[in-house]
Amino acid sequence: MKVLILTKKPFAQKAIENINKIINSASLETIILEKYHSESQVLNAVKDVDAIIVRSDLITNEILVSAKKLKVIVRAGAGTDNIDLTSTTARNIVVMNTPGQNANAVAELTLGMMVNASRNFYDGNSGIELKGKKLGIHGYGNVGKNVARIAKGFEMDIYVYDTFYTEEIFKKNINISDSKEELYKTCQYISLHIPATSATDRSINYRLLEMMQKDAILINTSRKEIIDEEDLMKWMENYQNVKYITDIMPDNDEELKIKFPKRYFSTRKKIGAQTIEANNNAGIAAAKQIVDFLLNGKIQFQIEFKR
Ligand code: 3PG
Repeated sequence: MKVLILTKKPFAQKAIENINKIINSASLETIILEKYHSESQVLNAVKDVDAIIVRSDLITNEILVSAKKLKVIVRAGAGTDNIDLTSTTARNIVVMNTPGQNANAVAELTLGMMVNASRNFYDGNSGIELKGKKLGIHGYGNVGKNVARIAKGFEMDIYVYDTFYTEEIFKKNINISDSKEELYKTCQYISLHIPATSATDRSINYRLLEMMQKDAILINTSRKEIIDEEDLMKWMENYQNVKYITDIMPDNDEELKIKFPKRYFSTRKKIGAQTIEANNNAGIAAAKQIVDFLLNGKIQFQIEFKR
């Protein structure tokens, strides 16, 4: 049986070696398609594979139609908004993810970006410190929890908003906001850690943004789709001291860069999970889940299509 590693943004070499070891020692064959440029390369590569490991790679209905033997897809990471789940469900293809495996990498980048913005992108002017500032974490999943853990080391005052909390939060000296409105009003720093779903699509809109403090810093290491980009532009125009820092380049990046060179920053490519450690963790977990499924029928962290 064949396992395709389909990663436009490649894993570190070390991770590939480890993934290969796991797959090959189960007598499965690995095929690698990295840094591809067109969907036709993908259509060709998926033709006779039984399993696929992906990152943010788009898995469209057309690709699934082409993948006649496909039984399982594992997203080496958290978000599965890149996979057409209606189509996988219709074709009985199992989809899983590897939750938490790259969370520390994304959280470290988040704090790094916060320091960068707070020090005026290292331009030499006096900046501000994170210590004692209020940090609002919107979305308290694996990444949000790691952001809270690291931010505590900076002695930030941490607030979270989510729709669901596990018991452990009550022991952690973290403030819970009853609504996102309250979170956005309370905190100077807001860090976004919500998935891209139909419910969150463009949910960070002007109504919410204008509630933020006059010197707010908004950090997005989550997904581009959750922000209303026109509203973001309006907010940056109307509030002269706010900053937007992101790891997912918005469509209006060029305009934002020109208009707000001192208040806007985006990485050129999404790099939150791009560390050797995160590649290893997520890649190894994905390979093990595939082997377990193909050899033993075991399913872990299944993503199901919700109507
Ligand atoms: C995720 O959903 O796991 C992160 O956004 C990382 O995505 P990536 O694997 O495409 O870097």
